[in-house]
Amino acid sequence: MELLEGIRTRRAIRKFKDKPVPNEVIERAIENAKWAPVAPPFRQWEYAVATNATCSRLATLINANSIHLKHMLDTFGEKERSRIIEYYRTLGNSRCLVFVTIPSTDDQWERKYKILSVALELQLFLINLHAEGLGACGLTIPLVTEEKILKILGLEGRELVVGFTLGYPDESPEPVPRERAKITFYDD
Ligand SMILES: Cc1cc2nc3c(=O)[nH]c(=O)nc-3n(C[C@H](O)[C@H](O)[C@H](O)COP(=O)(O)O)c2cc1C
Repeated sequence: MELLEGIRTRRAIRKFKDKPVPNEVIERAIENAKWAPVAPPFRQWEYAVATNATCSRLATLINANSIHLKHMLDTFGEKERSRIIEYYRTLGNSRCLVFVTIPSTDDQWERKYKILSVALELQLFLINLHAEGLGACGLTIPLVTEEKILKILGLEGRELVVGFTLGYPDESPEPVPRERAKITFYDD
């Protein structure tokens, strides 16, 4: 897949085929994502990939706690809100959930660099998944659910950066329009 084409054709996928994703495909997408730029001392994140019973348990938990996102959902229009609630209800029938965690820290400087580095890698992860014919969608997870997820995964004490649903796409969404970037050139 050509680079720019891959960047432009990736979409958040919220509906998945009932087809398991081989672990080696996810592993390859993560390994290839490691070519992202990184602040080396902060490369301390981990991926937790949940399938089968663990995936179902986590999906039930996320669904049951989506009420905590009410304040965020209220900012959307009725149609969009129903679509998001439906996504949280089914998680797009995803058979695989991926969670990315970093070691907890009170140091804001350290935390900023950890999150920035992991975010750069995750963008490449999503592009690599797309190149593998897979799709994914980020999951906004409220704090109360974060603690429970970490408990199920046995990762208490770490900070959950983000979760994704993941699988073979069963939809081809239209692109979401982007606003023009806010850029200030200081060239005098
Ligand atoms: C950190 C993060 C969290 C997200 N959380 C959600 C979510 O909770 N529910 C959802 O439907 N989409 C979620 N998304 C997906 C975005 O809505 C989506 O990427 C955005 O609308 C742009 O669409 P595109 O990815 O197809 O270009 C999330 C994306 C990111 C990066």
